[in-house]
Amino acid sequence: MPDGFEPKIVAFFCNWCTYLAADLAGTSRIKYAPNAEVVRVMCSGRVDVQFVLKAFAKGADGVLIGGCHPGDCHYQEGNYKALRRYRLLKKLLKQMGIEEERLRLEWISAAEGDRVRVVINEMVEQLKVLGPLNKTGEERAHLMEVA
Ligand code: FES
Repeated sequence: MPDGFEPKIVAFFCNWCTYLAADLAGTSRIKYAPNAEVVRVMCSGRVDVQFVLKAFAKGADGVLIGGCHPGDCHYQEGNYKALRRYRLLKKLLKQMGIEEERLRLEWISAAEGDRVRVVINEMVEQLKVLGPLNKTGEERAHLMEVA
């Protein structure tokens, strides 16, 4: 791993739960690693395979998806859809030579601001161990094609 490597994480957070939890963490002054760029989506079920592959293609070292706990999705079954996609994506990433640990799915409710801190900090540490996602320009272009 290069000295001082700081992983880039793209975090897709559901508007109704995990995004509010991240907001709560901010207003409660709960500090967590600044490595995550949060993208608000209406539901974790909205996170398409393309979103994740594009994030990796454009330089993310890790992707985090945060949604409401099972049974709490505001669109009823969006998070179950997210879970199915997540399992599929793990297999796909493995086939593409991307460690599956670089993708993480977490259920974090609006009240769990501290959980955001724990998950992001853990992911940063894990990605530091894995090192940067070393993909050549050609490999990144291939990810974009698949997306
Ligand atoms: S609305 Fe939060 S996961 Fe669906």
